[in-house]
Amino acid sequence: MCGIFGCILKSGNAAPIIHKALKRLEYRGYDSVGEATIYEGKLLVKKDKGKIDEVHAAHNLDDLPGRIGLGHTRWATHGGPSETNAHPHGDCETQVMVVHNGIIENFLELKNELEEMGHVFKSKTDTEVISHIVEEELKEGCSLADAVRNAVEKLDGSYAIAVISNKEPDKIVCARKESPLVIGVANDAVYCASDIPAFLPLTNTAVIVEDGELVVLDDKGYEVRKISDRILVSREPTIIDWSPEMAEKQGYPHYMLKEIHEQPLCLRNTLRLQEQYLDLMTTFLDRAGEVFLVACGTSYHACLAASYIFSKLAMLATHPIIASEFVEQHGRAINIDSVLLAVSQSGETADTLEAVQCARERAATVLGLTNVIGSTLTRVARAYVCQQSRPEIGVAATKTFTSQLSVLSQLALRLAKKRGKVSHVEIEQLEEKLQQIPDIVERLLEAQEGQIKKLARKYRDKKCFFFLGRGISSSSALEGRLKLLEIAYAPAIAFPAGESKHGPISLIEPGFPVIFVCPRDGTHKTIRSNIMEMKARGASIIAVIEEGDEAIKGMADDYVEIPKGLPEVLSPIPYVIPLQLFAYYMATERGCDPDQPRNLAKSVTVK
Ligand code: M6R
Repeated sequence: MCGIFGCILKSGNAAPIIHKALKRLEYRGYDSVGEATIYEGKLLVKKDKGKIDEVHAAHNLDDLPGRIGLGHTRWATHGGPSETNAHPHGDCETQVMVVHNGIIENFLELKNELEEMGHVFKSKTDTEVISHIVEEELKEGCSLADAVRNAVEKLDGSYAIAVISNKEPDKIVCARKESPLVIGVANDAVYCASDIPAFLPLTNTAVIVEDGELVVLDDKGYEVRKISDRILVSREPTIIDWSPEMAEKQGYPHYMLKEIHEQPLCLRNTLRLQEQYLDLMTTFLDRAGEVFLVACGTSYHACLAASYIFSKLAMLATHPIIASEFVEQHGRAINIDSVLLAVSQSGETADTLEAVQCARERAATVLGLTNVIGSTLTRVARAYVCQQSRPEIGVAATKTFTSQLSVLSQLALRLAKKRGKVSHVEIEQLEEKLQQIPDIVERLLEAQEGQIKKLARKYRDKKCFFFLGRGISSSSALEGRLKLLEIAYAPAIAFPAGESKHGPISLIEPGFPVIFVCPRDGTHKTIRSNIMEMKARGASIIAVIEEGDEAIKGMADDYVEIPKGLPEVLSPIPYVIPLQLFAYYMATERGCDPDQPRNLAKSVTVK
C-alpha cells in the first residue's frame, strides 16, 4: 500500500513540495520513493529504494525543475522494494508517468497482451500496465483524460492513480476505485493525494473523490467526471478544520481506532491476492508431512484460529506454536517433510525468525504470511503471501488479526478444494461469505461502537477480566484478552471455556466480569452451560452473540450482537471487532495511551 501525491503550481518548483507531502504520507509505506516532474516538454524522474530521508540524501529529491509533478511513497505489494519497482512508472517512450495506490488484479493478463503488442516492461509491478495502456490510447489519438479513462476501464481491482504526460504538460489526470483520493485547492496551486494530511499545511480546502470518478487538474482548478458515462459531477470543496496531528490519524484520536476502522478496506484488499501465490503455498501445504503454524502475540492467535480452519475445511492437522517455544519443543523433530508457515505482520519478529532459521537448517520448507514485503521473512521464505493491511502504527495489532485470518481462510479453502474434502456447494458458499465479510465488519463498526463505549465506561474500574470461548472462538477470546491487558493494563485471563472449571473458576466472585465469545456454532449448547456455571457464582456476564440469540441474551448482563448467518470458520473475524473496541475504550477510559503502551514496541526484534 502506498501514498500518492501530485501538484500543479502557478509558479515555482513542485519537487520540494512533493518531497514534504511524501514525508506526511510516509506512514502509508516507506520501502521506496519517487518523484516525476514535467520540464521543457520532458518528463524527469528521481526514484529509489529506501526511506524518504535515505533517498533524499542520495538523490536530493528537491532538485527537479518543473511546476507540475507527482510523488509516491511505496509499500510493496507486487515486486519487492527496488529502484525499478519504485513509482512513478513510465511507458516505452517516456511520455507518461503514473503513480498508483491499490492492486490491479488482472495485471498479468494485461501485461501479457501488452508484451505481445511489443511493449517492454521494466518493473515487476502491477502498476506499470497502466502506463503502457495509456501509451497505447495516446497513440490512438486520445486526449490524456480519455486515455486514462479508457485505461482504468480495463482494470480489475483497486486504484487511486495520478498520471502526467508530456503530450499534455499542463495537466494531472487522476482516477479512483476503492483506494482513497482527495483533491486540495489553493489560490496558487491544486493538489491530489491519498489523504488530506499530505496537503493540509498548504490548504484546508479539500474535495473528496468518490469511487468511479476521474479528475482533471490544471491551472484553472479541478473537473470531476464519472468514469462510466463521463458526466460532469459538481462537487463543492469542504473546509477541513483538523489539526495536523489529527489529520495524520484522519480525524481519529488514535492510530489504533483508525486502524480498527480500516479493517473493512484491508479485508477487501485481502480478497485480491494473487492466485499463483496462494496456489503455490497450497501445494506446499498439501505435500507436507506435518505443518507448523508459528508466530507470536496476535499473529499466534491468528495461527490458532487457522488450525481449526485447516482441520475443519481441509482435514489438515496443523500445530500452532508460539514462536519462542518452537526450537525447544519441535526443533529436533522437524525434517525435510515439515512445513513451517511463519505468520508475522512485521516479518522481523526475532522469535519467529529464530524458528524459521531452525526450520531452514533442518531442510524444512518455510512459508511466510506477512504485511511487509522486503522484510526478512519474505527474503528467507520459500514462498510468501502478503496480508495487505497497509502500515499498522498502533502497537496493538488489530487489522493484522483480521487480515491474516482472511488470508489463512483462503489458503484453507484452496487446500480443501484441492483435496476434495468439502463439497463444491459448501466451498462456493464459504467463498461467497468471505466476500461479504468486509461489508459485515463495516456495518458492525457502525452499529456497535457507541454501545461498546458505554460498556467500557460501565466496567472501567474492574480489577480483572475473564475471556472465554470454545472451539475456534477460544482464539478470539485470547486475542480480546491480549488487547485489553496490553493497552488498558487490565489483568485478564483467557481459557478455552471448558478449561475454566479445571481451576480458573476459583477466582470468580460476585461482580467478576466474564466476557464470553459465543457464535451460534457447534459449541453453542456447551458454552451456555459454561455461562450458567459462571453466573451461578455471581459473575457479570458480557456476551458477544449472534443477533437474536435469545437464550444467551437471557443469561447475560450485557451483550453485543453480531449479524446472523456466519459460517463457524469465518466467525473470529467479526467476533473479534467488539473485543478490539472494548480494549480501546477501556484504555481511554482508564487514561492510558492505546497507541504507545508502556514497555512495548511495535516490532520485537530481540529474543
Ligand atoms: O510483527 P508480528 O506479527 O510478528 O508481531 C507479533 C507480536 O509482537 C504482536 O502481535 C504483539 O503481540 C502485538 N503487540 C499484539 O497486539
